[in-house]
Amino acid sequence: MRHLMSPLDFSVEELDRLLDLANDIEKYPEKYAHACDGKKLATLFYEPSTRTRLSFEAAMMNLGGNIFGFSSAASSSAAKGESVSDTIRMVSCYADICAMRHPKEGAPMVASAVSSIPVINAGDGGHQHPTQTLTDLLTIRSLKGRLDHLVIGLCGDLKFGRTVHSLVRALARYEHVTFVFISPEELKVPEYIKEDVLDAENIPYKEVERIEDVMPELDILYMTRVQRERFFNEEDYIRLKDFYILNNKKMKLAKEDMIVMHPLPRVNEISVEVDKDPRAAYFRQVQYGVYVRMALILTLLEVNVC
Ligand code: CP
Repeated sequence: MRHLMSPLDFSVEELDRLLDLANDIEKYPEKYAHACDGKKLATLFYEPSTRTRLSFEAAMMNLGGNIFGFSSAASSSAAKGESVSDTIRMVSCYADICAMRHPKEGAPMVASAVSSIPVINAGDGGHQHPTQTLTDLLTIRSLKGRLDHLVIGLCGDLKFGRTVHSLVRALARYEHVTFVFISPEELKVPEYIKEDVLDAENIPYKEVERIEDVMPELDILYMTRVQRERFFNEEDYIRLKDFYILNNKKMKLAKEDMIVMHPLPRVNEISVEVDKDPRAAYFRQVQYGVYVRMALILTLLEVNVC
């Protein structure tokens, strides 16, 4: 039995197969409509979510399976003090697979240690968000045609943004990928990512504060929201929240085939005027999230569709 805690749980070859499966699902959805008949997915969300929870639920329903779960700690027995370990022992009796989001880093890992069903990390604190990374990889491969030879700008809250931490780890495994980290001083990418992932593998990167200075060199611009829920004080959040606002004027500086991605939700960091730009890929990214989660469920449940 396999769990998914980090995008690195899959080898590059396994990831390729997963993304190929997601592309096949996109092309031939009817082929997969009953692949999970009789199977149940539990969504255990101790933290708010729109996309991740609903796309997991849509994914399982598209496969013919059933879903149940909770969308906040307050509506589960966590509010009475039940531990994650005890909760997953219960859920293992009810479901075939589960997706868990938790504000504490490592909580899905704790669950996986005692679970008798596959556990998927659907985001743990500021740590990792592997299924967003699968979504991002599928989006990049589908829209750019490759996962190597890319210059990727990551902009905004690179300190607390778990999607950034997961994506950097995943893309660092491909040839000739260069990272451009665009953030204010207070929200720089953590040292452990730079040392353990980038320096360790001699992967080129630079850190800048002004988005305008690097726009022309990017193949992908990955925007992120300033993570209000992870700040220790409101004053710092208010000072930094509108540090970057991508608008049409800044988009004029970018390559014609650059794509703009965002894990969403967005707050102010991408002006709505950019939505009409053909390079805005963030809503297409959401659709890819359903295909890739369908592929992930099939893979972890070891369901083969001929
Ligand atoms: N991208 C993402 O994780 O969105 P949600 O928080 O809405 O799930």
